[in-house]
Amino acid sequence: MSRWENEIVKAASILSVSTKTVVMSGAGVSAESNIPTFRDAGGLWDQMDPVEAGTADNLFAQLEQNADKLKPILNDLLNAFGKAEPNPGHTALFDLEKMGILKTVITQNIDNLHREAGNTDIIEMHGNMFQMRCLGCGHKAILDRKSYVSDIEEKLKTITKLDFSAIVSLALHCEHCSSIMRPDVVMFGEEVQAMSESFQAAQDSDAMLVLGTSGVVYPAAYLPFEAKKAGAGIIVINPKENPFDKITDVYIPMKTGEALPAIVQEIRNQAGAS
Ligand code: OAD
Repeated sequence: MSRWENEIVKAASILSVSTKTVVMSGAGVSAESNIPTFRDAGGLWDQMDPVEAGTADNLFAQLEQNADKLKPILNDLLNAFGKAEPNPGHTALFDLEKMGILKTVITQNIDNLHREAGNTDIIEMHGNMFQMRCLGCGHKAILDRKSYVSDIEEKLKTITKLDFSAIVSLALHCEHCSSIMRPDVVMFGEEVQAMSESFQAAQDSDAMLVLGTSGVVYPAAYLPFEAKKAGAGIIVINPKENPFDKITDVYIPMKTGEALPAIVQEIRNQAGAS
């Protein structure tokens, strides 16, 4: 029996009567798929400065000036993203959708793993690194994870200097208008995607699962507060304390890959017992 059994039971009781649960997920949900988070020890922002690398212009400059330092970090990241697969936390969220409980997944993650786990109603506020957006006509295309990453890895091997033209040479071209395509991800200073849909989903929810996020990046961090105002039960799963404590109904200090399957099992147990 888990040390947090009471919390698992409480979370299951909230979810079992819900038909409009909304998830708000962050990097912690993908940690068990071996994708590093941003702000944990050893996370991405320990390895590079978000101000220096988080905006498109600065990233280009950094890649050119500090290629020796950044290339191995980018290679490790590409490797992690290339191999990543949905973990039991992602799979449990698809189970909740199939059970008619979970309606929408709002995620800050760009790793495509909620989609690959099977969830169908997904809002990617910070974009998706496997979706390319044409800078000419706006056409969007989702790419296969493994072949895209191995393609980039092969091209990177042939590049000696990571200057602007080398980076442009990595870009794909649109099948409709031949313009350059860029990964459809939100850099610092750019607008988040689908903000009004995200707020609407939070306001329409009857329960919210706040999963694996430090809750320090806005506007995503407003969403649990919007859900709470609308009367939703707030369940937070995160091994570490976070800024949602005042609005949290159930706090489970566990990994999502362990807590979410336990909650799904408990909902099934409760349904079997009634
Ligand atoms: P952070 O790295 O800020 O926070 C990750 C959170 O996940 C922390 O609170 C951890 O305690 C928690 N965590 C770690 N492992 C976990 C696990 N196995 N199960 C559950 N929780 C776990 O990541 P985000 O909150 O997603 O934005 O960061 C938000 C945004 O900041 C990102 O989308 C990114 C970044 O700058 C952009 O790049 C636009």
